[in-house]
Amino acid sequence: MSWFFNNKTDFVNVKILDNFYQTSSFYPMPVVICSTLSDSGLTNLGSYSLCFPFGISKDHYMMLISRSTSNTAGNIRKHKTIALNFIPYDKAYLKNAVELGYPGETTEEKLAESIFTLIPTSRDESEKQAGLEYPDIIKESVQIFECTVDETDIFKYDGPEIEAHFLLKIDKIIMQEQYADYLKAGEGFPTLPVDFGYRDSKQFWFSKHSHPYAEPIPKGKGVNTDAVQYQVERMEGAVKWHPDAYKKLVKVPRIFLKMVIGKINEAAKTEGIDLVTPEFLDKVNAKR
Ligand SMILES: Cc1cc2nc3c(=O)[nH]c(=O)nc-3n(C[C@H](O)[C@H](O)[C@H](O)COP(=O)(O)O)c2cc1C
Repeated sequence: MSWFFNNKTDFVNVKILDNFYQTSSFYPMPVVICSTLSDSGLTNLGSYSLCFPFGISKDHYMMLISRSTSNTAGNIRKHKTIALNFIPYDKAYLKNAVELGYPGETTEEKLAESIFTLIPTSRDESEKQAGLEYPDIIKESVQIFECTVDETDIFKYDGPEIEAHFLLKIDKIIMQEQYADYLKAGEGFPTLPVDFGYRDSKQFWFSKHSHPYAEPIPKGKGVNTDAVQYQVERMEGAVKWHPDAYKKLVKVPRIFLKMVIGKINEAAKTEGIDLVTPEFLDKVNAKR
């Protein structure tokens, strides 16, 4: 009767093949349509999944791994600019993403088969760097990271013939208003596709994620400043907070947090202070 029970709990060895993430594992990835400038001045569109956050605190970077000879890689090396367009889950878009993921096509051929609407970069003149030109972006995107390539030696692996790694500095993130509202409210998610890759050399596999649920961080795991930091980062205005200052507010009930932070920012502004420190909070508290 062993067939009756699902008792297949033993691990077996899996051979590590090239492109191991999709051939030798189940690895959920994003779907990003990279737009770059081609030599003819047209915007090229290429599908990419190996595109992940790389520098996340002070400097904000993405890492893109591309076939060394792709249009995208060539365009980034030359023009130094790229936009990462996150398309929503939609089977027609994903079908087109697979078409745009076929190696060897020219930009003109790709544009002829693309179903996406191209619009100019969202950068205004003050956000443009002298001497740089920027690719168009995809109107149907949920969010877009507009980036420039960082060619310092923090990480360099424009690897031997096969793969190239590009460090992309995020200059600007734009998002459809509805989703930006979700972000501010801390509730709601866009439906983004999950790519499991080109597993069997015949087809790509995508899924739609189900609605995310919230799993609170256990109480007693030490002082958790996440909620404070989260709220501080979502407030309008130029006042910045030193990370040590978050700790001072961990006992403020969630529903009052926004109001309290707003008042502190106002006090900082009135006093001409642009960095909220623990000492400043002590001062505000003493006055109160
Ligand atoms: C969903 C999807 C994800 C892909 N992800 C990558 C990737 O991360 N890196 C890569 O080199 N190629 C990836 N490819 C293959 C590229 O799209 C393919 O090399 C294409 O020719 C790139 O276009 P380009 O030459 O215009 O840059 C992916 C293809 C699809 C359909």
